[in-house]
Amino acid sequence: MRTAVLGATGLVGRTMLRLLENCNWVEGEPVALASPRSAGFELPWRQGVLACRAVEATSFDNIDVALFSAGGGPSREWAPVAAKAGAVVIDNSSAWRQDPAIPLVVPEINGDLVDGLASGIIANPNCSTIQVAQAVAALEAGWGLDEVHVTTFQAVSGAGQKAVAELARQNAGEVMGAPVFPRAIARNVIPAIGAPLDDGSFEEEAKVVRELRKILGRDDSLKVTCTAVRVPVVNAHAAAVRVVCRRPLTPESAAGALAGWPGVEVAATAHDYATPREVDGSTTVHVGRLRQDPNDARALLCWVVADNLLKGAAWNAVQIAARLAAWRAR
Ligand SMILES: NC(=O)c1ccc[n+]([C@@H]2O[C@H](COP(=O)([O-])OP(=O)(O)OC[C@H]3O[C@@H](n4cnc5c(N)ncnc54)[C@H](OP(=O)(O)O)[C@@H]3O)[C@@H](O)[C@H]2O)c1
Repeated sequence: MRTAVLGATGLVGRTMLRLLENCNWVEGEPVALASPRSAGFELPWRQGVLACRAVEATSFDNIDVALFSAGGGPSREWAPVAAKAGAVVIDNSSAWRQDPAIPLVVPEINGDLVDGLASGIIANPNCSTIQVAQAVAALEAGWGLDEVHVTTFQAVSGAGQKAVAELARQNAGEVMGAPVFPRAIARNVIPAIGAPLDDGSFEEEAKVVRELRKILGRDDSLKVTCTAVRVPVVNAHAAAVRVVCRRPLTPESAAGALAGWPGVEVAATAHDYATPREVDGSTTVHVGRLRQDPNDARALLCWVVADNLLKGAAWNAVQIAARLAAWRAR
């Protein structure tokens, strides 16, 4: 498929290009797009480079699939243009995720929603939501979920390359200017991600609640809560998750179901776990510390870690594109 990447100079866009290098369904070289600031900027591609272009009205002519990671504003502006030109847009921003007409896709859970799509928009979920959805999908299938309670520990790369630079500067002891984060992030944790909302939550927490329900095909009968915390980790998000199922279950039976779920790895024992440093670069979701809630035979606790730039963004998007390519090649 003829492929374009909008936001190609960003953390997610560069990761997408690196993944696309190994995709045999990519026809020729991808078109690398960003803002006018990056026109002519060279990005690595296989043994050579790609020259980045400023996105414009004709950028998506003759493109089959356009991977977007340029933020909500550019997405709202350019996704309809690309779809009208005949492309399928796979969008990493939150611009289209709650549109009932637009599928919100984690391929291992609801990948069938993209089959047969000739053009249009597909939304990639929020990075924290993807890893939590992967960790609970097998439990929903096997036991039915009543409740999911999440506390995230989110890496700075989730906020883009300026955020990574800000942590590095603060770690080096430099004084901040125009900070990405609302408080110092070095040697600190910040329980506030995204805009404050009227109900006392922050936007990132609301995304986890509503996107988890949409991916699992559930309404608000699935009780979900989230506290989202930024931590001074460069890459890979962690989450502490408590689930309450409809029927009693044991950690052993849950571990068996999770181990059989595609894209999930389960730690060998209740005391075993992965850390962000270890899963940096991994495309799978790692579930550890899986144990019973001693207060409730229907409830389990676990620890979930994944690379937010890979499964939380670029890898999930490339998986969707690969599924589209496989469908077209049938
Ligand atoms: N980082 C993550 O873990 C993650 C996970 C899931 C989803 N996302 C989402 O993915 C998107 C990108 O995230 P990121 O972390 O890659 O951010 P980033 O490192 O800050 O990169 C932003 C990219 O967007 C481009 N861009 C900005 N304004 C633009 C405009 N007006 N027109 C065209 N291109 C424009 C930038 O191009 P220039 O270089 O030309 O400015 C750059 O390529 C965001 O929507 C984010 O919420 C990120």
